[in-house]
Amino acid sequence: MAVRITTLSENTAQLGFLGEWGLSILVETESSKVLLDTGLSTSAVYNADLMGIDFSTIDAIVLSHAHGDHTGGLRDVLRRVRKQVQIIAHPDIWIPKYVVYGEMSRYAGIPYAKEDLESLGASFNLTRKPFKISDDIMTTGEIEMTTDYETIDDRLFVKKGNKMVPDALADDLAIVVRTTEGFILITGCAHRGIVNTVRQVQKLTRGKYIHTIIGGTHLMVASPERIEKTANELKELGLQRLGVSHCTGFNASVVLAKEFGDVFFLNNAGTQLTLE
Ligand SMILES: [Fe+2]
Ligand SMILES: [Fe+2]
Repeated sequence: MAVRITTLSENTAQLGFLGEWGLSILVETESSKVLLDTGLSTSAVYNADLMGIDFSTIDAIVLSHAHGDHTGGLRDVLRRVRKQVQIIAHPDIWIPKYVVYGEMSRYAGIPYAKEDLESLGASFNLTRKPFKISDDIMTTGEIEMTTDYETIDDRLFVKKGNKMVPDALADDLAIVVRTTEGFILITGCAHRGIVNTVRQVQKLTRGKYIHTIIGGTHLMVASPERIEKTANELKELGLQRLGVSHCTGFNASVVLAKEFGDVFFLNNAGTQLTLE
């Protein structure tokens, strides 16, 4: 096995698997096993059981950002890991996050106290910088926003003192897997923009070929213009696989499916990709 990517939790699911709003993707390479995100609640563990995946063998957990639909499964996952495990994330994950709808707001951050997760074996390794987990897996670190058309979802806020302020989502990051052919980019929500994320990876890898993108693209609230620009810029990469998940949304999925043809797929719970 060269690289195996298994989606353990996603909004929709393949036959027999549990679907749940959120995301969790396991990446296995020859040198390590890394879990990106843990879904909203029990679906990652439930689906892992169906696939015979043993969490006690994972080397690290990466949190793409603090939102509960990516971190809510942490408690159940840690109970299955049953050992000290490093959790790599951005320091801003502990800032309280909210979704605001008109007059209403809902807490949307990590639903556990740090100490509780530590008592289950979590060892937090928080950094803004790219972090090399093993020979072939690293995080992007904080993602620079360089496009002029990718903006952050304006319903997302953080609480600073008593004030709600727009969330800059500085904690948003992704992981990059090196293969003989080039790189695989795996995203959580890509809140800072999928094209900005791609550009970050190009900077990190000095412009090496990205052949596969898998994960959330947060285009569900994007304008048709942004979706079009995103599709055009992604097309320039010459991707071999584009597996969208979670917060991509129906409209963007339709556009990308049309633009990318056979390269495109819906990456949902139960999807497993093995790259030799
Ligand atoms: Fe999110
Ligand atoms: Fe999300």
